[in-house]
Amino acid sequence: MKKRVLSGIRATGRLHLGNLKGAVEGMLALQDDPAYETLYMIADLHTMTTPYDPEKLRVNRREVVLDYLAAGLDPQQSIIFAQSDVPEHCELSFYFSTVVSVARMQHLPTFKDKVKQYPGAVTMALLNYPILMAADILAYKASLVPVGIDQEPHLEVAREVARKMNQIYGTDFPQPQRFETKGEYVPSLLGEGKMSKSVEGSYIQLTDTLEIIKERLAKTPTDEGKGEVKYKVKSSKLKVQSGEKLFFSGGKRSCGVETLLQLVELFEGREKREDYEKRYTGDGLRYQELKEELAERIFSDLSPIQKLRAEFEGKSGYVEAVLSQGAERARGLAGATLQEVRKVMGVR
Ligand code: TRP
Repeated sequence: MKKRVLSGIRATGRLHLGNLKGAVEGMLALQDDPAYETLYMIADLHTMTTPYDPEKLRVNRREVVLDYLAAGLDPQQSIIFAQSDVPEHCELSFYFSTVVSVARMQHLPTFKDKVKQYPGAVTMALLNYPILMAADILAYKASLVPVGIDQEPHLEVAREVARKMNQIYGTDFPQPQRFETKGEYVPSLLGEGKMSKSVEGSYIQLTDTLEIIKERLAKTPTDEGKGEVKYKVKSSKLKVQSGEKLFFSGGKRSCGVETLLQLVELFEGREKREDYEKRYTGDGLRYQELKEELAERIFSDLSPIQKLRAEFEGKSGYVEAVLSQGAERARGLAGATLQEVRKVMGVR
């Protein structure tokens, strides 16, 4: 039997470079590998775990499907579906919630972050987030999950749930592992943290024009473009090619410099980055040139995606057809798991 792969992205807005490098490129690699059966989901229910607007959710679900298709996810090769169209996920998450303690969920760093972000909206849905995610994955007994490194705590929960279920009820859930992609950490344009849909100004969307990319990059803070390289850091976040990264000067502003160099490395290659590093410690580096060239390069990577997106947008009813066909196939697979679980847990 083929190994199954499942991944999903929340429906909070159009996808950006962080989603592309961190998740979608991994999804594509596995889709094209005949050893795997791939399921790719729009996590619309997970979008409801923090404050949201129903009308925006409806729009964004469609946006994410379009971005998926434009980036190369292919409904002939992968099952592409919306989480809410497969009610088995919710049912399974309830069964899973019987083997997980409240304390375990409250102590997750991802939960604590959201509590800080939305202190007035700490709902049961938010607490249950990792359980629903475990259900997304295990409904298909998927063993491989292409997601960004920030999702590791959630995968750990999914593995725990699988172990507990197998121990108590004798099921055969696999222990899902994360599938890493090369450029999985894309930094925020603001110079702090990672590119994120919820931080305005931090991202470049797949649909951005060259003009907009330039405008966004223009806002990345820089310094005088010349100076000492203060220290080296062993990079834990940036699991790109090499272990060590040069880190440019102290202070907040220079974080933007590191961001730009990381983007150069991701989109123009390691050599280009090294070239800029040499200029920085030598005659000096002109950021306007760097940003201009980087913008052009990013745009040229995005323009085939944008062309494809426009085609799909023009085909009326296409997105709906992809989703309904995907849901039907997904329900067939998840249904089999649910029958098994209901039986061993005593509800059939
Ligand atoms: N939590 C994931 C994120 O924020 C989205 C997600 C929901 C997911 N369900 C999933 C990812 C199942 C992988 C598998 O990125």
